[in-house]
Amino acid sequence: QIWIVDFGSQYTQLITRKSRELGYSSEIITVKKAREFFKEGKRPNALVLSGGPQSVFEDDTNYDFVFDNKDLPILGVCYGMQLMGKYFGGVVEKGTIGEYGHAKIHLLNGFKMDGVPDEVNVWMSHSDHISKLPKDFDLVMESANGLVSAIEHKERPMMGLQFHPEVEHSEHGKDILNHFFKDVAKLEKDWDATEMLEEAKDLVRGIEKSKVLCAFSGGVDSLVAAQLSHEVIGDNLYCFFVDHGLLRPQDYNHIEILKEKTNLNIEVIDVKDEFMANLKGKSDPEDKRKAIGKTFIDVFEKKVKEYQDSHDINFEYLLQGTLYPDVIESISPHEEDGKSVTIKSHHNVGGLPERMNLKLLEPLRYLFKDEVRKMGEELGLEHGWVHRHPFPGPGIGIRVLGELTETRIAQVQQSDQILFEELHANNLYQSTWQALTVLLPVKTVGVKGDGRAYEEVICLRMVNSSDGMTATWTDMPHAFLSRVSSRITNEVKGITRVVYDITSKPPGTIEWE
Ligand code: XMP
Repeated sequence: QIWIVDFGSQYTQLITRKSRELGYSSEIITVKKAREFFKEGKRPNALVLSGGPQSVFEDDTNYDFVFDNKDLPILGVCYGMQLMGKYFGGVVEKGTIGEYGHAKIHLLNGFKMDGVPDEVNVWMSHSDHISKLPKDFDLVMESANGLVSAIEHKERPMMGLQFHPEVEHSEHGKDILNHFFKDVAKLEKDWDATEMLEEAKDLVRGIEKSKVLCAFSGGVDSLVAAQLSHEVIGDNLYCFFVDHGLLRPQDYNHIEILKEKTNLNIEVIDVKDEFMANLKGKSDPEDKRKAIGKTFIDVFEKKVKEYQDSHDINFEYLLQGTLYPDVIESISPHEEDGKSVTIKSHHNVGGLPERMNLKLLEPLRYLFKDEVRKMGEELGLEHGWVHRHPFPGPGIGIRVLGELTETRIAQVQQSDQILFEELHANNLYQSTWQALTVLLPVKTVGVKGDGRAYEEVICLRMVNSSDGMTATWTDMPHAFLSRVSSRITNEVKGITRVVYDITSKPPGTIEWE
């Protein structure tokens, strides 16, 4: 396995993803962890030192514990290369102008890399640079500005890159990384869907006799986590699906299909009334979110206790579909003080394990979303199930703006149904990352038949994104938007107007509440 030592670059996760796409398993670790592991005598197959916001002029940490390992393949990216340069007696110069954004670089001195042309466009983000080559290193690539872009050690399996091969903007970045893994480090491939699945199952093995509980939403993560766990522990896995009444028709359908077509033990718990009672009179978004989150936990705990008593069983574990980006220890300087502003209180089942005295089972904790999808297919789950759009825990509770009523919930359920029927009919479901309808609490004047109407507005929102952190609105075909609009105004009672949200995130968030 490759260890990627994180110096806080915003791109570190991408190095992991790219290495895995190339077939090499990798994991992100902090400098502190790396130091501990080396002390304990552990070594990776190769080590990558990431970029970071620091400057070697401010960092007097001793990295001998890394560089003293003569046979260890090491790749230094950006800041990582400067550390390497400094250690091996090169000169790093403080930048005055720096290089940010695209830069042309070229291969020098007869060096070749598979699939990489002599000149490529790459992504730079640095101000310091190496002005004198470290001892025993060759200059492999140089930028059009004459700055050192890539170096390789003459004897040891070491390489330094001043640019970021891991970002999409770097042409042939993946080929350049592959050159390091394949030709410099001489690694054997050890990562594919089968391997991934086996490692995930390993996290479940050993507890075959225990009863495991899963808060099952039917979304990609909980479905894959449940299916792979089921292959290990069988019917000791119990999936509880909470029907809080804030779901879309497609979600109810999906659960029915999963109950019929998978061998999972899915228990639907109907708690619609409890949710409506606890949301009564609440119109502020945060009040609603908190009420939904709290009610979820309270009813889940209560129903599970009842189930345990009536079935005479005792759950020991809680299965969760937690993904890698949520567990990586971050050393981002912005988060060092542990304070970040709450934009929205996200609803999840946090807090449940302690309250219910359950141990956590997180078989997807080392995986990225696209890997989970791949693994789902490996498990034989249908393509449509593992490529579903994300859907938030609080459901349409945060898509009916203001206070929830049965009528208003039904309006969003109907408009959502129309939107998705049209997305599927026009083969557009996969052209957008997420799609939703929101009921706005405003009345506008319209004309229906021959009369005046004074009714409410449905807003359509479709966005593209890779992880929901940032997003751009999706440019859908006008004929499609027009058809959805006309169907909603004709078919959903109380709606005279449909608008399309053309806000990116930031500044807008994806959901309206
Ligand atoms: P925002 O609105 O924050 O949404 O831009 C980003 C992504 O997260 C989803 N979302 C949630 N998911 N619990 C969830 O499980 C929540 O409370 C929640 N709020 C937003 C949202 O649908 C989008 O995909």
